[in-house]
Amino acid sequence: MERKELILAIETSCDETSAAVIEEGKLIRANVVASQMESHARFGGVVPEVASRHHVEQMTRVVEEAMEQADISYADLAAVSVTEGPGLVGALLIGVETAKALAFAHGLPLIGVHHIAGHIYANQLVRPLEFPALALVVSGGHTEFIYMEEEGLFEVIGQTRDDAVGEAYDKVARTLGLPYPGGPQVDRLAAESKESIKLPRAWLEKESYDFSFSGLKSAVINTLHNQKQRGAEVDKAALARGFQESVIEVLTVKTERAAKAYGVKQVLLAGGVAANKGLRSSLKETFEGENVDVIVPPLSLCTDNAAMIGACASMMYKKGHFSDMAMNARPGMPLRSY
Ligand code: KG4
Ligand code: ZN
Repeated sequence: MERKELILAIETSCDETSAAVIEEGKLIRANVVASQMESHARFGGVVPEVASRHHVEQMTRVVEEAMEQADISYADLAAVSVTEGPGLVGALLIGVETAKALAFAHGLPLIGVHHIAGHIYANQLVRPLEFPALALVVSGGHTEFIYMEEEGLFEVIGQTRDDAVGEAYDKVARTLGLPYPGGPQVDRLAAESKESIKLPRAWLEKESYDFSFSGLKSAVINTLHNQKQRGAEVDKAALARGFQESVIEVLTVKTERAAKAYGVKQVLLAGGVAANKGLRSSLKETFEGENVDVIVPPLSLCTDNAAMIGACASMMYKKGHFSDMAMNARPGMPLRSY
């Protein structure tokens, strides 16, 4: 019987401790995620030291659980993979050291994966990627268009000039007095309202695939302050809806333009903000009846998880890109092609 390629993957770049086992780069045998959301909620954001401590506490259990769920032993593995960067240095280190220890102890190859490449490859767990493809990466730290001419080639063709879209969501949520994490809260509130307060759209230069969200964020804050000063009751849901409509329109229109200009076969949605209900339906609607396949991963694969790291690691494994024991956490790791 032919041996299946099984890769253990570890992700600890921010506030989720996760381990997964992926078969042939596409089948999830296990994907265990221990969230620290509650610990950070009382601080209104992720506290790096708290995150590192949680990773240390959870790591061994999470890996053991993933191996148990996949029903395999270390001898069945082809490689151990881990998020090498970018992310919080203390948080990344826990995953990196764990992966190195496991690879060393079991004589397995080691693969260091870029977190954003992982978010993009989450789509391969839905269905096979087809190239050329365009990825819209929207997370707490990133907002980028990444063009992929072929497997493993990443070319950034546009990015935010100021705030990442998730960051803007989180700041707007805080301004509206919503709890952390703010993105899902704004998304939910926006859906509750029929009214919408019209806010500006930052299109930038005509041909640009770049984004800007800081002006929109300021517009939300100003609207709130002006209304308060006039003693008027602020319709927070209408404001959330206005903000969400502006974000989604810009993201969708630019995605459609870039997809046409680059003649892509697939559009891949990636990153934590890909969990946004409004964005998911807007992208699907926009490309309906067009010759472009839009992949919108299930929510569990949009937020941080190790399965996506394993999917990307499989591509790197096939192309022969391995790390050695000198691998270190790289908080500012740039995205490069393989
Ligand atoms: O990818 P991710 O889990 O972590 C990073 O790598 O940054 O993304 C987290 C971001 C947060 O800013 C969070 O508020 C946002 O994704 N987010 C959302 C939604 N769910 C999570 N933003 C808008 N709507 C959502 N439903
Ligand atoms: Zn992420």
